[in-house]
Amino acid sequence: MNQDYIKPDNWSIIEEGFDTESVKSSESLFSIGNGAMGQRANFEENYTGETFQGSYIAGIYYPDKTKVGWWKNGYPEYFAKVLNAPNWIGIEIEINDETFDLNTCTEIKNFRRELNMKEGWYSRSFEAKLKNGTEIAVNVVRFLALDLDEVGIINYEITPLNKDAKIVYKPYIDAGVTNEDANWDEKFWEPLEVKHTGNEAFVTAQTFKTHFKVTTFMQNSILENGKNLNLSPTNFNTTTDKIQSIYAAIVAQGKTSSIQKIGGYTVSLNHTNTQAAAEKAIQAALALGYDQLLEDQKEAWSKIWEMSDITIEGDVKAQQGIRFNIFQLNQTYLGKDSRLNIGPKGFTGEKYGGSTYWDTEAYCIPFYMATKDQQVARNLLTYRYNQLDKAIENAQNNLGFKNGAALYPMVTMNGEECHNEWEITHEEIHRNGAIAFAIFNYYRFTGDYSYIPEKGLEVLIGIARFWHQRANFSKDKNQYVILGVTGPNEYENNINNNFYTNYIAKWCIDYTYEQLQRVSLEFPSDHKRIIEKTKLAESELKEWKKVADNMYFPVSKELGVYLQQDGFLDKDLVPVKDLDPAQRPINQKWSWDRVLRSPYIKQADVLQCFYFFEEHFTKEELKRNFEFYESFTVHESSLSPCVHSIQAASLDKMEMAYTFYLRTSRLDLDDYNKEVEEGCHITSMAGTWMSIVEGFGGMRVKNDTLNFSPKIPKEWEGYSFKINFRNQIIKVAITHIETTFSVDGTTDLAIVVNGKNITVSPNSPIAVSQN
Ligand code: BGC
Repeated sequence: MNQDYIKPDNWSIIEEGFDTESVKSSESLFSIGNGAMGQRANFEENYTGETFQGSYIAGIYYPDKTKVGWWKNGYPEYFAKVLNAPNWIGIEIEINDETFDLNTCTEIKNFRRELNMKEGWYSRSFEAKLKNGTEIAVNVVRFLALDLDEVGIINYEITPLNKDAKIVYKPYIDAGVTNEDANWDEKFWEPLEVKHTGNEAFVTAQTFKTHFKVTTFMQNSILENGKNLNLSPTNFNTTTDKIQSIYAAIVAQGKTSSIQKIGGYTVSLNHTNTQAAAEKAIQAALALGYDQLLEDQKEAWSKIWEMSDITIEGDVKAQQGIRFNIFQLNQTYLGKDSRLNIGPKGFTGEKYGGSTYWDTEAYCIPFYMATKDQQVARNLLTYRYNQLDKAIENAQNNLGFKNGAALYPMVTMNGEECHNEWEITHEEIHRNGAIAFAIFNYYRFTGDYSYIPEKGLEVLIGIARFWHQRANFSKDKNQYVILGVTGPNEYENNINNNFYTNYIAKWCIDYTYEQLQRVSLEFPSDHKRIIEKTKLAESELKEWKKVADNMYFPVSKELGVYLQQDGFLDKDLVPVKDLDPAQRPINQKWSWDRVLRSPYIKQADVLQCFYFFEEHFTKEELKRNFEFYESFTVHESSLSPCVHSIQAASLDKMEMAYTFYLRTSRLDLDDYNKEVEEGCHITSMAGTWMSIVEGFGGMRVKNDTLNFSPKIPKEWEGYSFKINFRNQIIKVAITHIETTFSVDGTTDLAIVVNGKNITVSPNSPIAVSQN
């Protein structure tokens, strides 16, 4: 496995030279997506080397029967998983009667991949010598259209270099695919129909159990030197789940032959007749043609970049890192559909099974709120609202809660729990807190209160009820405690009184209580509807308050820090710096009991609380807790470095902030954790964005106003970003000398910079000096 082989470039991800060791990693890094579907960078032609095939369709899942060593009550019977979708990209190619396969070529020169993030396409080019001596130059461009989001396009060019060539193209679509990760080695797709007409072909299949119907389609054209030869297939190979069309071309040495393949999926989530929709999708793509589709793609991506780009001057690797993160986030989720969400691997791999984790609320929402229309973040909130009934069922049927208490799943595709380790499924309950926090954060940022009376309050009530029932009164402490949990730091299980969990539990109850008061005053009819629906009585509210007002928080007065959990100080407190590097990562080197006994922390835990509720604590408290906990943190979760980077910046520890920034932004590009072949860490990419905007830029929203306290790493000459704050776009450009603020539109924007009020007027940028 190779690390750190991507060439630095401002706008592209580039690999040069063919190395079988990098194939799976590059398949992840060069993945493409358009919010509706995604594709790992698998080769179109046959490849007999090691590969991880992955095509994905948003919202399509399969409930796999749970398989665990020792069944525990409360486990979900089935859990939904991301499915490898039928293959639409495949093109088997014969050249002078030999199947072309990069793994069997005798020579490969000038191999180059490029993922052009600015324009949204992926290309691969090389020269290869086949065993039969034929030398060819190949150039392939592939993209998933943003505008026609059911359609992908491939332009595959071959130029015979040393002799004429008989080229047989065998493009195919295939629903006979499997998942790398399948509990019972089952097939997940049931083929229904295989059809072809002329240059078009269709395979319709449905998922077993969930019965999502998908028509995978293709349309092929064969060209020479850019001119369509209007060839028809000479033959078809058909099985019950696959169809291959055969085209033959004789190509003179030096001429360029190409196949253009339009392909993709139409799904029953969006169409009643997927076959008819597939025909329409092909017609829409053909009407535009390859060149126009590519132009439209560039245009669509330039609109995305216009709002979401972050520029960094003087540090190409940092620039490439942040653009890669922003690009992947936009490839994964564009916010058009409230049934969809952001999986930790997006469309780049299967790991993490389901799509939605607390990552969305804790890490992703700020990025989408600030770089898109506010409806996008609202859609993400609505996703949870639509799954409230299932969260209530989960708490009641599986875990013994009552009276409308809701526990959202740790991992989900459809509202049902997808995870089955007791210490996570049953104990990592803090996720409920992040879902409530996101409602608060959405209102704080957008000022759109309407979400709370319309939808949010019901979610808050379910969550507050859960916390009220989950806490118990300790006679010994004369306070309420929360026992047997796993905090964000998954290197501790079944602990008592995780500070973060207790804090967010109390906060959720208090916040819900306040919103009930506000909604009753300002939206009485919504209040009435909600009280009737939830049967919430005053007496229950009093019980909630008792818990919130008397919650126990573990603390060390001597050290001046909150304790991650009861008994944390009993551990052998050897800081990470004194840990033998050969022992790391500890999750790969140590047995689980040893990890649990150790003081080592996977990701921000007490510090996650300081991140969410910064204003509740003083800078001195942050400093003490940061210095204490960071010294034990191994950052073995991708979600860890970003929070630490933000806090280090706010504590003026700029070297540290910068190191954490590089680690978060190039986690996948440099493959820090040696696992990128499984897919990219999509949700933590939003954390990278936060490290710049909230970390270095110091952006916060306080009292309905944007605040900044800009800082700049010494390694950079300057950087800039844009924020959509309540439908007004503000651009912030920071150098070592000054920060310049400018706004679009026609209205002034009042902001606070380093504690001072400033008004920014349209067309007159204001510069504030750095000191
Ligand atoms: C982290 C969780 C996170 C999950 C998915 C785990 O390694 O510990 O906090 O939700 O990955 O990103």
